[in-house]
Amino acid sequence: MTIFNLGSINADMTYRVRRLPRPGETIATQSLDRGLGGKGANMSVAAARAAGRTAHIGAVGPDGAWAVERLMEYGVDTRSIARVDAATGHAIIAVDEAGENTILIHPGANAAITPEMVAAALDMARPGDLFLFQNETSAQAEGAEMAREKGLRVAHAAAPFDAEAVKRVLPLLDLIVLNAVEAEQLEEATGKPPEALPIRDVIITLGSEGCRWVHTPTGASRDFPAYRVTPVDTTGAGDTFTGYLLAGLDRGMPMAQSIAQAQRAAAIMVTRRGTADVIPDLKDVQDSLLGRDEG
Ligand code: RIB
Ligand code: NA
Repeated sequence: MTIFNLGSINADMTYRVRRLPRPGETIATQSLDRGLGGKGANMSVAAARAAGRTAHIGAVGPDGAWAVERLMEYGVDTRSIARVDAATGHAIIAVDEAGENTILIHPGANAAITPEMVAAALDMARPGDLFLFQNETSAQAEGAEMAREKGLRVAHAAAPFDAEAVKRVLPLLDLIVLNAVEAEQLEEATGKPPEALPIRDVIITLGSEGCRWVHTPTGASRDFPAYRVTPVDTTGAGDTFTGYLLAGLDRGMPMAQSIAQAQRAAAIMVTRRGTADVIPDLKDVQDSLLGRDEG
């Protein structure tokens, strides 16, 4: 099976700061790193690193050839990445000493993805394949509709959160991944707790509190304790979780096992500075000696 991931591709500019700036404040940074990022690209790289067959649907500008090359090096199928007449998306990321971040994104080419581009990519899809998307591109709802019509399983990571965008796609989803804040925002927007949504599998990541899986048809839920790590940079950890999760499911692994593996990958990611370029591969994840918190 293949994971078709409609997602953003960004040039990440990551600045280390002692603490995050307050409104009106100017802060000198301690270092600058440039790398490949974008929630979409991070998820594609994670899925490919997890041995999932991954095709990225996206767009870059004339300045984005390096990003496509890098995705290719990381094992992602890049045939459905369009070259458009807009600057490649970029992100300005500040990471403080506790590993927390703030992120500004400039969508650029990511906002120039058309339903036609997604349709062309999905011509290669077959029933049972997976369609994944986040909220950093255009053509999401149209893409999810087409994927559903073609018999793909549809998964969404509702980040960055936007109530209108997520409400529009909710009826199309088989699986949603939310962090704790997004889960609350979604409950506010819909008036329903996530476990009452018409989505088969709801996964809520809770950072150092682990994560929760709700299987809505049965109402069963299961909590997974977190792996213990000292955070250095949490950027991209959630994306790594989702990419790994999808790859596990796509390869036929049971949900609980896919979640546990995704948690391990995300825990490693929290200890590394950077985004797509430092996502661990399956061997790193399997070899890692991580301790679980007592549940
Ligand atoms: O989730 C982290 C990502 O958010 C970064 O790579 C940045 O590009 C933004 O999309
Ligand atoms: Na990181």
